[in-house]
Amino acid sequence: MDKPIMIALDFPEISQVNQFLDQFEDPSQLTVKIGMELFYQYGPEVVKQIKQRGCDIFLDLKLFDIPHTVEKAMEQLGALGVDYTTVHTLGGKAMMEAAKRGLQAGAKRAGLSEPHLLGVTELTSISEQVLETEQNCKLPMNQQVVALAKLAKASGCDGVITSALELKDLNKALGSDFEYVVPGIRMKQDAVGDQSRVATPKTAREDGAFAIVVGRPITQNVSPIKAYQRYLQDWNLK
Ligand code: C5P
Repeated sequence: MDKPIMIALDFPEISQVNQFLDQFEDPSQLTVKIGMELFYQYGPEVVKQIKQRGCDIFLDLKLFDIPHTVEKAMEQLGALGVDYTTVHTLGGKAMMEAAKRGLQAGAKRAGLSEPHLLGVTELTSISEQVLETEQNCKLPMNQQVVALAKLAKASGCDGVITSALELKDLNKALGSDFEYVVPGIRMKQDAVGDQSRVATPKTAREDGAFAIVVGRPITQNVSPIKAYQRYLQDWNLK
C-alpha cells in the first residue's frame, strides 16, 4: 500500500477542505476519506473537486438496504472514480454481493478501475451489552466481528474496517490477503478524544493493517503537514 494514511476530511464545509489540502505541496500523494457530512451537503461534486488534486479517495457512505437498491446505488458510486467505499456487513451476503456487482458495473460504464469494497462490521459505538440486548446476538463482540468479516470475504468484499484490537484475530482467521483498514489511530503525544480503543500507526501495521484512518490528530493540528509526516514515519518504522 503506497498511500497507507487515509486522512478523514471531517469538515462541514468544502472551503475548509480546500484550505487544508492547499497546505500540502503534492496532494496526489494522499489518500483522503470523504464521509456522509460532506457528501450529503455537496454530493458527487465534492468527490470530483478533490479528485482533481490527484488524491486517492475513500468515500465512506456505509450502504445498508435491500440488495437491489444497494446494487443500483453502488453502480452510481462505481462511476464516480473513488478508490474505496463501504457497505454494512450486517446487510448480509446477498447485499454485499449486490454491492460488488454494482461497483463493477458502474466502474465499467465509466471506463474506470473498480473501487475496493470494504465491509463495516459491528460499529465501534456498539458495546457488548447492546450487542446482546438490542441486537440479540449470541456471540461475544470479537467472535461476531470475525464472523462478519468472514462473511464479507466470502461475499466478495476486498477488506473490512476494523479496530486495531481485532486485527490479530482477523489475520489469524482470515489471512493477510484481505484489506484491514483501521481507524482509532493515535500517536502517544496526541489527544485520544472520543476514541477508546487506540493504537499507534506502527503497532497497527505490525498487527497486519493494510491502511489506517486518521482524522483530528492531522486535520486539527496546528501543523497538519508535520503531523501527517509523523504518522507516516511511525507507520514506516521497522
Ligand atoms: O479524528 P479521528 O482520527 O478519531 O477520526 C477517525 C475517523 O474514522 C472518523 O472519520 C470516524 O468517523 C472514522 N471511524 C472511526 N471508527 C470506526 C469507523 C470509522 O473512528 N469504527
